[in-house]
Amino acid sequence: MTARKRGSSNGAARPPPKASDETHKKTEQITANSSELSITPSKLGQILKVSAFFFVPYFYLIFYHYQIDEELKRSILINAVLSFAGFFITLFLIPVATKYLLRRDLYGKDINKKGTPQGSIKVPETLGIVVGIVFLVLAILFQSFNFTSDSNWLVEYNAALVSICFMILLGFVDDVLDVPWRVKLLLPSIAALPLLMAYAGHTTIIIPKPLIQYVGIGVLDLGTVNGDVSGVRERRGATNCYGTVNGDVRGLRCGIDEDYLMNSCCSLPAGFKLRGWIYKLYMGLLAVFCTNSINIHAGLNGLEAGQTAVTASAILIHNVMQIGASSDPEYKQAHAFSIYLVQPLLTTSLALLCYNWYPSSVFVGDTYTYFAGMTMAVVGILGHFSETLLIFFLPQVLNFLLSIPQLSGYYVCPRHRLPRFDPQTGLLTGTDDGTLVNLFLRCFGQLSEKSLCLLLLGFQIQTHNISEAIAVAVSLLHVANAAPSSCETRPLQ
Ligand code: UD1
Ligand code: MG
Repeated sequence: MTARKRGSSNGAARPPPKASDETHKKTEQITANSSELSITPSKLGQILKVSAFFFVPYFYLIFYHYQIDEELKRSILINAVLSFAGFFITLFLIPVATKYLLRRDLYGKDINKKGTPQGSIKVPETLGIVVGIVFLVLAILFQSFNFTSDSNWLVEYNAALVSICFMILLGFVDDVLDVPWRVKLLLPSIAALPLLMAYAGHTTIIIPKPLIQYVGIGVLDLGTVNGDVSGVRERRGATNCYGTVNGDVRGLRCGIDEDYLMNSCCSLPAGFKLRGWIYKLYMGLLAVFCTNSINIHAGLNGLEAGQTAVTASAILIHNVMQIGASSDPEYKQAHAFSIYLVQPLLTTSLALLCYNWYPSSVFVGDTYTYFAGMTMAVVGILGHFSETLLIFFLPQVLNFLLSIPQLSGYYVCPRHRLPRFDPQTGLLTGTDDGTLVNLFLRCFGQLSEKSLCLLLLGFQIQTHNISEAIAVAVSLLHVANAAPSSCETRPLQ
């Protein structure tokens, strides 16, 4: 939560104390901005250039490289147009909201600039509320372009939106009320309830082939496994996938022979009952992880919005490749569903980044980190690629593992686990707190805040590339080891 002062409402309108050194110019500009309540998206040009590197190949894949159904292409295009409109709306609304947030003393001080004039500026916090609201409006409007009233997707789509909306509300409550850390951890499980209650989709986790001999089953169905094969038969009828039951194995679409699958399921002890609630528990835990892992991999200008933009881009590319490589309508629809939610998430986050990149003139707040995490958890669940999603979250997983000793209370967990800033050099030094940010500083030595953020985002991009490469390597290994007649493989391209 924000280190925020609760004082008289006119406190925010007061200009910060005058500074007198070199960095004064930039400070004055932001100070004036804060007091005059007008900030400008100073990084707009840079963000647009960097975004072009992603969007050009992305649209090339959709419109030229893959043979994607015209109707699906049309829906993706409409969603993209709405999302780009969302970019400009967010860009316009952030300065407007800033004015109101400062009036209510919703601001934070930039800890990594403490001791410099910039460190004493009141930086408006909780701008995630703007991103969240624009996102929800776009996602709700988009339904009229894509779904018919009897669509099965409508229920889950709206349940997903309710969960995201609930998460935005709880994130905002956290930003305003400063909820204790352990309570904070539980908020996403409450927000996920609407989706968990409405969910009636797949409840299977496909066991990767090399592990099947150890686990003893090919598919773990957390919803309908009863020690018999009825659930499998129903599913086989429903999926109509080349006589196989298909799943996503680390980005690899792998059909598993139905007889093998039934035999595998039959090998479960009779009376072994796992109800759908176990899968729902898994979904709830995924939501808790995604939201909190983004929230604790934070504290550098641009890191929260930056990691979301990078991960959202990876998800979009993954979705397009899966759609392009598949001929299963249900599977394609699941990935299209993900695109419909991730495109607006990406563009609105990029708009936020125009203000939040170093040096930040706004902070995103827990409203944003929870909103972004919940949206990605939801698309992972409903797009049926939660395993792949966790691979995309590798830096966050690493940061979470490093954090366990402090989060569990084994070591003292201070309010902020950020590096030490030296106002003389303007560089950050790693502390003993267990975070990826500190680990990088310990490994690479002192760095400026901007360089460190770029390094962490570069690391995230690399982990995405490596994980895609591993997925392809594993898929090739599977092809070599698998019974050729029974396993149809479609590796990522
Ligand atoms: C989580 C982390 C905490 C980290 C904080 C930074 C855990 C258990 N908690 O706490 O260690 O310090 O996020 O967001 O790992 N801030 C900056 N620069 C930025 C962004 C934020 O200085 O670029 C500071 C500002 O003072 C801002 C505050 O962090 O007001 C926001 O912190 P908040 O999101 O409320 O912290 P938590 O999510 O509780
Ligand atoms: Mg936070």
